[in-house]
Amino acid sequence: MTRVWSKSDWRSKPRVQMPDYTDPEALAAVERQLSKYPPLVFAGEVRELKRQLGEVAAGRGFLLQGGDCAESFAEFDADSIRDTFRVMLQMAVVLTYGAKCPVVKVGRMAGQFAKPRSAPTETKDGVELPSYRGDIINDIDFTSAARIPDPHRMLQAYTQAAASLNLLRAFSQGGFADIHRVHQWTLGFTDSEEAEKYRDLANRISDSLDFMNAAGVNGGTSHELHTVDFYTSHEALLLEYEEALCRIDSTSGLPVAGSGHMIWIGDRTRQPDGAHVEFARGVQNPVGLKCGPSMTTEDLKLLLEKLNPENEPGRLTLIARFGAGSVGEHLPRLIRTVQQEGANVVWSCDPMHGNTIKSATGYKTRPFDSVLREVREFFDIHAAEGSWPGGVHFEMTGKDVTECTGGMRAVSDEDLSDRYHTACDPRLNASQALELAFLVSEELSRQRAARQAAAG
Ligand code: PEP
Ligand code: CO
Repeated sequence: MTRVWSKSDWRSKPRVQMPDYTDPEALAAVERQLSKYPPLVFAGEVRELKRQLGEVAAGRGFLLQGGDCAESFAEFDADSIRDTFRVMLQMAVVLTYGAKCPVVKVGRMAGQFAKPRSAPTETKDGVELPSYRGDIINDIDFTSAARIPDPHRMLQAYTQAAASLNLLRAFSQGGFADIHRVHQWTLGFTDSEEAEKYRDLANRISDSLDFMNAAGVNGGTSHELHTVDFYTSHEALLLEYEEALCRIDSTSGLPVAGSGHMIWIGDRTRQPDGAHVEFARGVQNPVGLKCGPSMTTEDLKLLLEKLNPENEPGRLTLIARFGAGSVGEHLPRLIRTVQQEGANVVWSCDPMHGNTIKSATGYKTRPFDSVLREVREFFDIHAAEGSWPGGVHFEMTGKDVTECTGGMRAVSDEDLSDRYHTACDPRLNASQALELAFLVSEELSRQRAARQAAAG
């Protein structure tokens, strides 16, 4: 079916959360330059991710999506990328074991630079300046010069995304992600209870691999055991950047966002007639849609139709982010809308963005208990509504930060100042991320058992 759409149509729609660049010529020059650069991802990969997410939508897979709230130019090095990737691998192993189904791994990485903000300005000690909007737009330093949006930052973001993706591809395909190394991924997490649980699991996996080898089932040469598919994603917020990297897929003749495998639309930019929906509706990538408490059933219907008119499985992921205690009020009505419309979607749970609070010590934080509670509520409601809880979406880092309170190695309000490094929202540290994975894994195996019992 042909749809009339062009990559610059969003320009005639109302836009929110985007910078006003002061030098239109500099902006245009950057856009011209970017549009000549190679895309960061390729259409075949995007199609393959969509196929895998289609399996998730059908209840035959699980989506694990996570990474930084905001990637930064300052914290860009191989170790940070490796550490985040390694925690994702560990979480994926834990989940595969519990869910007994393929886990689709998608990083909030290699392009997650632009941030929507709750207020246009920020005030410190009586000084009011424009808010920081992510390194692709302006600088986090609290000076008026730093906060001016600079289009040249898009070129640096592109370069950083390309280098990050290059390393991620190397880690995924070059031996680091080989399941036979399941024990090595634990290095650096030796002292926690989850690390202990992980080691037990890794032992069981190694035993199975040894058994398969001994039995002549050749795990030694199977490609699946030596490599992983790892995909990238980010919020498609800065549309000048997205448009400049949009390309035509030579196989299908359809437009594809070349900035990352999957893009999502944030909770603040999902107006059905707005610029962000207009851009996303025309590219063939998998698209995520954040659904917060203000998502009405009417808007959801419009968005299902706009973003996935052909009802293609794997095209649309609805990312629920209501906050612990509020899931019961909103998720059932949205699940029922999806069911009434007969829409194929992946349901994912973001237990981070509805649970941000200010700590007694003044830091923006997220109590880990609220994070876990929202995940449990998400699973319980899907069980009650007969739908598949298809994934989780979270903010984490492989580093041992103290940004979210709680967890088995409890981080207290007073601890927050020790290693609070995020450029934006508080992230789970490696140990909290692993603890979350164990909880999700238990929920998934319960769900599986219930399904099997129901099937007789
Ligand atoms: C985010 O994912 O970083 C974000 C800003 O989320 P939301 O749009 O759900 O608030
Ligand atoms: Co965030």
